[in-house]
Amino acid sequence: MNEERILRPGAVALVTGASAGIGLATVEALAAKGLRVICAARDKPRLDKLAARLDGAHALELDVTDAEACAGILDRLPGDLREIDILIANAGGDVGGRKRFDEGEVEDWARTVETNVTGMIRTCHAVIPGMLARGRGHVVTLGSIAGLRTFTHGSIYAATKFAVRAFTQGLRADYADTDLRITEILPGMTQTEFAARRFHGDEKRGQEFYETFPANLGAVDIANAILYALEQPPQVTVAQMVVVPTRER
Ligand SMILES: NC(=O)c1ccc[n+]([C@@H]2O[C@H](COP(=O)([O-])OP(=O)(O)OC[C@H]3O[C@@H](n4cnc5c(N)ncnc54)[C@H](OP(=O)(O)O)[C@@H]3O)[C@@H](O)[C@H]2O)c1
Repeated sequence: MNEERILRPGAVALVTGASAGIGLATVEALAAKGLRVICAARDKPRLDKLAARLDGAHALELDVTDAEACAGILDRLPGDLREIDILIANAGGDVGGRKRFDEGEVEDWARTVETNVTGMIRTCHAVIPGMLARGRGHVVTLGSIAGLRTFTHGSIYAATKFAVRAFTQGLRADYADTDLRITEILPGMTQTEFAARRFHGDEKRGQEFYETFPANLGAVDIANAILYALEQPPQVTVAQMVVVPTRER
């Protein structure tokens, strides 16, 4: 086993969904530790601004629902960033969600599955072979407490997060005879752009949604949990971490 810590200055991390929320907070936390962070999302101008203010950060325009773009991730990176040590598979959402199943748009449901599940699978498929070849790597997936229990008007989002949980467990089983570490972080309610996006960009409604809860986590709280998993010595895998607000409904 390679005894070197994976979370070290100069290591390369790829974060999907890096333009906002948990992904953005994770990019900032990793850059603060001296990692070279590939910031991937669809909003390239936002990523460019982020990369400009963080040492060692690189903006990568990526829609995880685009099969070709995912398959070509490594080809589109500068040579010195192709050996990815850490993948934070975070891109996700629930656009058009919080509706009774039949009242939601089926295209929104399909898009949520394509983003949260297929997109995660495609990203991992592009990155994991290199990790295996080098004999080191840490994959962190963003599940949710919605992957542990369903809720009313959340059938599809919960289905995607149950899938993330099964996929992550499956990866851990597949690579149990390697030094790859596979972690799932399962956040509870976290105040980000997630709710506004769910309501098709209605920020007021997003804010009101968060106000119905006694407390919400911040994106930094989840970034801290991710960092904790990454910081463990090579022989330790944090398999799952459920992080919820202390006061819950
Ligand atoms: N917030 C919560 O309460 C909560 C709780 C549990 C789990 N989670 C999970 O945590 C992850 C991050 O959520 P968040 O709260 O940080 O949400 P957020 O603030 O809405 O950020 C979502 C990020 O995902 C990116 N994204 C969305 N669709 C994408 C696509 N097709 N391709 C590439 N990037 C895409 C967005 O960037 P672009 O628009 O620029 O592409 C954005 O950077 C998600 O997987 C979510 O399910 C969140």
